[in-house]
Order: sequence, then C-alpha cells, then structure tokens
Amino acid sequence: MAVNEVHGVVSPARGAPVELVSILVPDPGEGEALVRVQACGVCHTDLHYREGAINDDFPFLLGHEAAGVVEKVGPDVTNVAPGDFVILAWRAPCGNCRSCLRGRPWYCFASRNAQQKMTLTDGSPLSPALGIGAFCELTLVNALQAVKVDPSASPLAAGLIGCGVMAGLGAAMNTGDVGRGDSVAVIGCGGVGNAAIAGSRLSGAHTIIGVDIDERKLEWARQLGATHTINSTDTDPVEAIRDLTGGNGANVVIEAVGNPATYEQAFYARDLAGTVVLVGVPDPTMRIELPLIEVFGRGGSLKSSWYGDCLPTRDFPMLIDLYLQGRLDLDAFVSESIGIGDVEAAFASMERGEVLRSVVVM
Ligand SMILES: NC(=O)c1ccc[n+]([C@@H]2O[C@H](COP(=O)([O-])OP(=O)(O)OC[C@H]3O[C@@H](n4cnc5c(N)ncnc54)[C@H](O)[C@@H]3O)[C@@H](O)[C@H]2O)c1
Ligand SMILES: [Zn+2]
Ligand SMILES: [Zn+2]
Repeated sequence: MAVNEVHGVVSPARGAPVELVSILVPDPGEGEALVRVQACGVCHTDLHYREGAINDDFPFLLGHEAAGVVEKVGPDVTNVAPGDFVILAWRAPCGNCRSCLRGRPWYCFASRNAQQKMTLTDGSPLSPALGIGAFCELTLVNALQAVKVDPSASPLAAGLIGCGVMAGLGAAMNTGDVGRGDSVAVIGCGGVGNAAIAGSRLSGAHTIIGVDIDERKLEWARQLGATHTINSTDTDPVEAIRDLTGGNGANVVIEAVGNPATYEQAFYARDLAGTVVLVGVPDPTMRIELPLIEVFGRGGSLKSSWYGDCLPTRDFPMLIDLYLQGRLDLDAFVSESIGIGDVEAAFASMERGEVLRSVVVM
C-alpha cells in the first residue's frame, strides 16, 4: 500500500521543543480516511502533551483541532467520500461499549481511531495527539472521526470546533445545561472559557460573568458575550460573582483553567443547587480539599466535561450552521494564522496570554 511522506510537527521528548520533520502517513485501510489538513488550531492540550502532562508515549504528532478535505478513503467507508469538507473529531462513538449501549454515545469509552500507525521516516511509530495528529499536510484517522460540515465555512474557524471551542461551548450547552434566564460564571477566559461564554449566550443566559487574570482575555470575553468581567488579580472573584447575582452565586460556574484554586472559587461562587462544570484539565499531582458538609449542604452537582460532552455528528454541523448564520462568531477566536513551522512560537504566545487561538494554515 502507498505511503505518503509529508511534514509533521513532532514532540520528541518531555519538555523539549517541537520539531518539524518528515513523517510517513499510510494510505487508508479498512474503515480509515486520509485527510488533507487545511487548518489546525494550537490548543493548550498540545502544550500539555509536550510537557509530558498527558502521558509518556513520545514521540507525539501534535495538532488535533483541524478541518480539511478527505483525500482518500479505505474499503467499507460510507460516511465520507473524497472531496468532502470535514472537521476531525477526537470522539467517534464505537456503538458497542457500555456507554454507547446505554444510549449515551457522547461518553463513549472506546472511541475509534485509525488502526495503522503514522511513523517517523525510520519507522518509529508516532502517538497522534488525541488520536488525531494534524499539524501535518495529510493525516490518517478512522473515517468516523471525519465529520462532514457545510464547505462554505472557513477552515480556520471550522477547525476550532474540533477541540477547544467545542469543549467550551459544550461545557455550557451540554454539561452545564445552561438555559434561558440562567446566571453563569466562567473562570479562565482562554479559547475554551470564551467559548463557554459564547455557548451561554446562545443558550439564553441572562447574566454571564467572565473571570481571568489577564485584561486582554476579559476584553475578548466581553466581545463574545460576557455581561460582566472580573479581573481576579485585584478582586475576590467569589465575592464579586455573588454581588452580581443578588448575593446568591451563579446557577452554573464553569472552571476552564484546570487548577485547584480556581476550582475552589467555582465551588463557592455557585448558588444553592447550582452546577459546577470542570472543563480545564488538571495535572495528575493536583489535589482539592473541601468540607464535605458544604458539598452536601449546597446540593446541586459537580460535573466534569470531556469535549463538552459533544456528539460530533450532531453538534459539528449544527454549530457550523450557526456560524454561517452569523449567530456564533468563530472568527473571533482566531487571533493569528501561522505556518506549520511556528507551533513552538505559538506555545510561547499562548503562555504570554497574547492569543485566543493561533491557527496553523497549511
Ligand atoms: N475538557 C476538555 O475536553 C478540554 C478540551 C480542550 C482544552 N481543555 C483544557 O481547558 C483548559 C483551557 O484551555 P485553553 O486552550 O482555553 O487555554 P488558554 O491558555 O488559552 O486559557 C487559559 C486561561 O486561564 C487563565 N487563567 C490562568 N490562571 C488563572 C487564574 N488563577 N484565574 C483565572 N484565570 C486564570 C489564563 O489567563 C487564560 O486566559 C486547559 O487546561 C486545556 O487543557 C479541556
Ligand atoms: Zn462506545
Ligand atoms: Zn484541544
């Protein structure tokens, strides 16, 4: 079977800078699709991989927030065909695990990925980030990971639905079940948190409070729908959220940082019987300590949100349509478009807080 040699952004070892190298991508086998990547956003999770905070399966092929065009499909593929414009999903429900069988495919515990390996030119297998690996011109996925959407959408904007923006929108719309008239607070207004703000607005929330330590992020939060913003470097966010909600706290508080201090703020900033949604990814060393009587006495629910509890085949085309109708400003998340050789610089811009999303354009 043919093998394609392309460029890919590889994270070679824990903490080491990423490298742009030649990689080998096999032609699609049974159930697989080869996708020509047009755009791929730089997500904080790519940086977590490079730091070794996800696992130790180096070398990684980074990039997992991508849109492109199907180049070839393998035998038995029926959901997509060459020429289709697709967003790549890191959840492709299997239909057979205990969660799929209970009718809850958005929690699928055995999500599908390509069977064949992409490799370095010496044959060593690459671990594709989140089962995708899309900082490369061609990538190999399970065909069910490729979700067809309206081709009139810009690939830069569409790719963002593949991870961070979906995670944030879904944290509000699916996991948090934000509804008309609700009050919502979002702690951490990066790409994910600001998408949670946009999702809260789409769901009809009345009060939407953005909290961050960086003024630039709060400016974006106001643009995407925050009715109020709080800079928590100089203001106690719990007190401020209570003040803005009649002294009660918010119905839904979304933590989009991934850190015990901000999780504790979220816990105390929610109203009685409210919901906390943790969408930020903590590192394995982090611990929280909460009085159990408060967990009990406040009622409500403490939830985690993986990928915004999305069902890609349901949510991706719907969100792209909202974008094309002018009701979801995905372009506002694209701070800069960069080349495939600029991922390391994009990590630095991310760490300095200069961008919501840098998007690699192939
Ligand atoms: N659950 C999921 O499915 C999923 C998917 C994608 C990303 N994530 C995670 O979501 C988190 C956010 O991702 P992102 O791409 O938006 O990252 P980002 O770096 O763009 O945003 C993080 C934001 O948090 C702010 N922040 C940092 N410390 C803070 C504090 N103490 N108080 C308030 N704000 C603070 C930063 O200023 C920044 O604006 C990451 O942990 C990422 O791994 C989760
Ligand atoms: Zn399943
Ligand atoms: Zn991501």
